[in-house]
Amino acid sequence: MNNPWYEVVVQPKPAAKPVAKAESAPGAKPAEIDGAMVARDVASAAGDLAALQSALEAFELCELKRGARNTVFADGNPAARVMVIGEAPGRDEDIQGKPFVGRAGQLLDRMLAAIDMGRNEPDADRSVYITNILPWRPPQNRDPRPEEMGMMLPFVHRHIELAEPQMIVLMGNIACQALLGKRGITRLRGNWGEVLGRPALPMFHPAYLLRNPHAKREAWADLLALQARLRAL
Ligand code: URA
Repeated sequence: MNNPWYEVVVQPKPAAKPVAKAESAPGAKPAEIDGAMVARDVASAAGDLAALQSALEAFELCELKRGARNTVFADGNPAARVMVIGEAPGRDEDIQGKPFVGRAGQLLDRMLAAIDMGRNEPDADRSVYITNILPWRPPQNRDPRPEEMGMMLPFVHRHIELAEPQMIVLMGNIACQALLGKRGITRLRGNWGEVLGRPALPMFHPAYLLRNPHAKREAWADLLALQARLRAL
């Protein structure tokens, strides 16, 4: 179909906006738009990462976007074997437009460096590609709501399909809830699961490690497990 009904909503500046009579009638309720359905359609239509980023930047149906300065898409090497998926941008990420650049992100960089990996490594074997479940900062860094995650999940799924990582690291409860349908990171961490047919390793979120440094021991074990699996492939 050339002109599906939601394009009017998704396109930033439509040339002409057809208005149905019923909608313009005084007191008429505008039709409910299913944001998750629109997200599914626009995300699946993206043929590459640049198109997915553009589609995300043009997506206006998630309330979080209104309070955000930037749409935080990804950082690192898209050809990396490992894709790291976190929760949502915080203050620093919102300002800079990149994931994991604040204190937690700096710890993440040190953790990756400990297994000789990093987001700025040009070599795909040693690099990582980093994104989040939500591309917009929730107000006051509150937890993402299930309906927000549900709406944005088609973009995350398409992001994984297009980046084609060999392995995924799920940072913290929110990433596990969104992609494995499970919470309880203390139990989940270190146990490989599967996301879209790819091995996925839940780990403690670096922000949790900043608050609970004793848990770095388990995080180190998980990094070694990741390294061992990469070497075995
Ligand atoms: N925490 C996250 O989960 N993601 C970020 O980008 C920053 C902090």
